[in-house]
Amino acid sequence: MSKIANLEIDGKKYEFPLVVGTENEIAVDISSLRSSTKGIITIDPGYKNTGSCESAITFLDGEKGILRYRGYSIEELAEKADFLEVAYLLIFGELPNQEELEKFHADIKSHSVVDDDVKKILDAFPKSAHPMGVLSSLTSALTAFNPSSVDVNSEEQMYNAIVRILGKFPVLVAWTMRKKHGLPLEYGDDSLGYVENVLKMMFKSPNKEYEQNPILIDALDKLLILHADHEQNCSTSTVRITGSSHAGLFVSLSAGISALWGPLHGGANQAVLEMLEAIKEDGGDTKKYMAKAKDKNDPFRLMGFGHRVYKNFDPRAKIIKKAADEVLGDLGVEDPILDIAKGLEKEALEDKYFVDRKLYPNVDFYSGIIYRAMGIPTDMFTVMFALGRLPGWIAQWREMRLRKEPIGRPRQLYVGETQRSFKSINKR
Ligand code: CMC
Repeated sequence: MSKIANLEIDGKKYEFPLVVGTENEIAVDISSLRSSTKGIITIDPGYKNTGSCESAITFLDGEKGILRYRGYSIEELAEKADFLEVAYLLIFGELPNQEELEKFHADIKSHSVVDDDVKKILDAFPKSAHPMGVLSSLTSALTAFNPSSVDVNSEEQMYNAIVRILGKFPVLVAWTMRKKHGLPLEYGDDSLGYVENVLKMMFKSPNKEYEQNPILIDALDKLLILHADHEQNCSTSTVRITGSSHAGLFVSLSAGISALWGPLHGGANQAVLEMLEAIKEDGGDTKKYMAKAKDKNDPFRLMGFGHRVYKNFDPRAKIIKKAADEVLGDLGVEDPILDIAKGLEKEALEDKYFVDRKLYPNVDFYSGIIYRAMGIPTDMFTVMFALGRLPGWIAQWREMRLRKEPIGRPRQLYVGETQRSFKSINKR
């Protein structure tokens, strides 16, 4: 195949090199387009055809339903690794050996105390505040308590910033939930594993010992791994573009949390459960909601269906569906919501509208059902997604800085008024 793409505009020919990735994906390198054509740009709303960077972290093939972190399949990682190993893999590129993993965990623990004054900021939020808004604010506020900026040329400073946020973020997650529920704020327990510690910090009641449940630890570990990275999605692109101005790690993450909040992205897990609840309250008539989803005059979308990249199936959804069955079975929970979800899935998979548009259940269709069975409140679901996505955001931010990527600054095609004269107020 030719290594050149040809473009002809107004009889003039331009050549652009093709770049081939390690999985044989092909990209046209248009970085010289504007200068060589004297001002012509491309336009691609939603970046459906635009690669914003080269990345060696996550590979996904939406047609084949493949997702790999650093070359390892998501199926294998979900089955054999734990979340901290996956975090290390994403951030540093290789699975850690025992010694590296222990040091990584010890370093995270040594940074897991959050300044007590952060509680004052948390106190100022009304109990009704959405946890994602609170988490984004607290993550940004961490900068004020750790003001030294990271010299990205220093391995040591980079490493310290990474273990610091991996240590403090679960505390913020737990505090966000506890504050909402009027529970005293807990610090972590260094004797526990990363995920066990998260569960204890979230759920420990002030008047009794917290008893760990291995089923919940395993389920949360899996959910966090499945959410840990997903290449250049909306929140990750936000983290990279914020960090590209050389803004610090914590504020870049805070921007990513805000982007994740939206119902078309991470907020979908909350929206799915609210939708399933609404269907249940409405008598469980899934057909009615299928019709709404297909009606172009109705803004309703079937939450948890469709994906920008997966046009065959979402491999994470397969794993999660199985996990939902196992967790609910193990916990002895019978949830009518699960039956509605299964019914809706069956109908959608056989429906022409959904089949034609290649709309399949995504990762968030079943994750909320597991979170609910674990006792996590609905408005905390997206916070749990953020906890899982944290290593991915960190890995992407680190890669962007180490590759010395330029500031992210897209162009636009101006379609507004051309120059006109100012009209005084009495003539408008
Ligand atoms: N229900 C009904 N119709 C849908 C849905 C849906 N969930 N998703 C897409 N469509 C239709 C859409 O109306 C359009 O139809 P038409 O071609 O007739 O105009 C067609 O399918 C293509 O949709 P699109 O919005 O152009 O597709 P996109 O790639 O821009 O959007 C999406 C992807 C995930 C935003 C979208 O499928 C959606 O809104 N899904 C529901 C929200 C959701 O579950 N989001 C979680 C994504 S996975 C977790 C994550 O990555 O954060």
